[in-house]
Amino acid sequence: MSVKSWRIVALHTVMLFLLFFVIFPLTLSAVSQPRNLKNRNSKTSDASSAIFQVEGNVYPLGHYTVSLSIGNPPKLYDFDIDSGSDLTWVQCDAPCKGCTKPPDQLYKPKNNLVQCGEELCAGIHLSNEYQCAAPSDQCDYEVEYADQGSSLGVLVRDQITLPYTNGSVVRPRIGFGCGYHQKYFGLNSPPSTAGVLGLGRGIVSFLSQLHALGLIRDVIGHCLSVKGGGFLFFGDDLIPSSGVVWIPMFPSSLEKHYSAGPAKLLFDGKLTSIKDLELIFDSGSSYTYLNSEAYQATVDLVSNDLKRQKLERAIDDDSLPICWKGAKPFKSLGEVKSYFKPLALSFQKAKDLQFQLPPESYLIITKHGNACLGILDGTEVGLEKLNIIGDISLQDKIVIYDNENKKIGWVSANCDRLSVNREVEEGFPRRYATDSGIFSDRCPAIYGTTEK
Ligand SMILES: *[C@@H]1O[C@H](CO)[C@@H](O)[C@H](O)[C@H]1NC(C)=O
Repeated sequence: MSVKSWRIVALHTVMLFLLFFVIFPLTLSAVSQPRNLKNRNSKTSDASSAIFQVEGNVYPLGHYTVSLSIGNPPKLYDFDIDSGSDLTWVQCDAPCKGCTKPPDQLYKPKNNLVQCGEELCAGIHLSNEYQCAAPSDQCDYEVEYADQGSSLGVLVRDQITLPYTNGSVVRPRIGFGCGYHQKYFGLNSPPSTAGVLGLGRGIVSFLSQLHALGLIRDVIGHCLSVKGGGFLFFGDDLIPSSGVVWIPMFPSSLEKHYSAGPAKLLFDGKLTSIKDLELIFDSGSSYTYLNSEAYQATVDLVSNDLKRQKLERAIDDDSLPICWKGAKPFKSLGEVKSYFKPLALSFQKAKDLQFQLPPESYLIITKHGNACLGILDGTEVGLEKLNIIGDISLQDKIVIYDNENKKIGWVSANCDRLSVNREVEEGFPRRYATDSGIFSDRCPAIYGTTEK
């Protein structure tokens, strides 16, 4: 479990952030690309999207990862994909605390430190605690996550390998953290990944850096399979041409999260007392979190409804706070689906567009064969009023974060295979997918639109 979204924001950070926007709004709109670029005729010929195979699952692993090649010669590292934070970091081969990987899988910096006078360094320090004594000093960083985990280290810049879907490969230099002091507090601590891939909206994020270099449009999407695995894409060429539900990104979010709202909660298609939820879309969080009040109401709704069923609370299963057992241990989500009603989030200011949460999107089956509620109390873990849509609820959907048009979209999909729209499919090079072996084990090279 890792709620990567929430870094502790001191008041002065907030002030500085506001100031930043007072000074830079014109610059920001000037650099964003003209909208009509999107309607290019030759959609496939100048496509510049990249796609990565995703590994992992919600339970038991608690994370979804991609492998990225870094350095020269390139070496592969696995990163937890995190739309809830900005900074990408990798466990560092330096005297290291909390490095869980064997030494040969640690990243070795070599004279490639980012200097503290650089814009990138200023970008991770939006607080005035940061002191850059001399511009050529190294750039230290520290990130804290909502689960109290953290990484401390130094910023470096190195080549990463970005394989475009058209078969070309580019190797831009990207800044990221070399983490030599990690703390883990999650349920599955310590995590087994080499690092975190920060895909948030801030300027240091992996996505923002690729976009600033002119390599990719400011869009990502992921499809996380309920069976494990899936895919992650950069750029807008792989957005399905139909069926996507779009809602505007919530503009007021200080931490530059991908958030939307307000939303009300529906239970079995009916309105509940829960409304006005601001929701953060966060692939770095394994589970979904609601504020205490909404959480308690949800637990009551689900539990009261189960009274008619032959399910009892499984108090001895400590996998998650609330679990139920059946007459026999459950083997799959398919077996429990009929006991539980669907939930849905309805976006109040977006024509009540809905984000469906079928039982598979809020339950896990534990190794003991019980069904546990994958919606947790966010207030209890320090999220206060924030609500997070985590991996469990993002599964079996293509979820798109479109910073070009400031909107978030989703559509049901089979994430076991690559689902793309037809225009792209025609120009999609099987050469790339087969040669690089990207879809060899889990994603057979079948390309087609998924309509469910
Ligand atoms: C693939 O796309 C990139 C980015 O648009 C472009 O620079 C490159 O020339 C393209 N390669 C091929 C083989 O078309």
